Amino acid sequence: MKNNHYPFDLEPLPYTYDALEPHIDLETLHFHHDKHLKTYVDNLNHALSTLPEFQSMTLEEILTNLDQVPEAARTAVKNNAGGVYNHQMYFASMKSAPSEPKGPVLSAIEERFGSYDEWKDIMKSKALAQFGSGYAWLVSSQDGHLEVINLPNQDTPLALGLIPLLPLDVWEHAYYLKYQNLRGTYVDNWFSIIDWDAVNRRYEESQ
Ligand SMILES: [Fe+2]
Repeated sequence: MKNNHYPFDLEPLPYTYDALEPHIDLETLHFHHDKHLKTYVDNLNHALSTLPEFQSMTLEEILTNLDQVPEAARTAVKNNAGGVYNHQMYFASMKSAPSEPKGPVLSAIEERFGSYDEWKDIMKSKALAQFGSGYAWLVSSQDGHLEVINLPNQDTPLALGLIPLLPLDVWEHAYYLKYQNLRGTYVDNWFSIIDWDAVNRRYEESQ
């Protein structure tokens, strides 16, 4: 993004709206990016407009210092800063199919979970286990230990002291236009559009 602090910008998608077809359709990406993410950006800027002490902070700094936000504004800041951060990472974690897992993070996945396929099973089960809206995440602990977790709403691994490596948005707005209630089919197809170069960059920075 042009600004890494208030006022935040709506960062453009790093690919065209049809780039993820047929796995994620053009119409879903338009709604997801142009409407849903834009609303989070606008609401975050509105919430921060009366909080000058947070206006020079990055999203990461805001999300790791939520306890310093005045209580009356904390929920709005948490949800909307999380909404911007999570969506930017989600959109920046996908590319046109086909995508093959590779690199140091694949080796770490195989070491931690047994195999890439076993990791996929765990990631999918966490995505399906998230009741209502939220995300499944591949994360690293501060000491480099990989985990798969699910978090509700726009909660972030950052707030738990974890390093986010790969988010999977399972809010209905991410898949309902194309897949309706079939979250599992959306998840199965999402695996073939993961941008493993992006995941490897985050993994190497986390080590
Ligand atoms: Fe979303």
